[in-house]
Amino acid sequence: MKFDTTKYETGVIWQDFQHKQLIDLFGKIKQAGSDDREKSLFPYTTGFLAMYVNHHFTLEEEYMAKYNYPDTEVHTQKHKAFIEEVKAFRKEHREYSAKAVGDLIVRIEDLILSHILENDQKLGKFILGKEHAGK
Ligand SMILES: [Fe+2]
Ligand SMILES: [Fe+2]
Repeated sequence: MKFDTTKYETGVIWQDFQHKQLIDLFGKIKQAGSDDREKSLFPYTTGFLAMYVNHHFTLEEEYMAKYNYPDTEVHTQKHKAFIEEVKAFRKEHREYSAKAVGDLIVRIEDLILSHILENDQKLGKFILGKEHAGK
């Protein structure tokens, strides 16, 4: 079964594209099961995640600054907390284990997916409003 990503869409193209990259990766590691594929996907996923949180969050924050987003403070705090969470996770799970994958899915996926649904969709709507007003 393919994971439905449409409910996570914000309507902002770059944001949706980047969210989808992450959602797809979580989907892959979830489907891999405890075999060699999962083992090789694990370091890739956590490495990608570390790069992703920095890059993706910075981009969202640039847009918040550009358009004076009123919820910048709350949203940015969440990003900071995720960056710490990902760092702590990587420290705790340097090597692959079935438990590490389970943890990754429960702790990180849930956090990030709920962030997309709550905070990012709100931001996306705001960005779309600003960009349409500017045309
Ligand atoms: Fe996001
Ligand atoms: Fe965000």
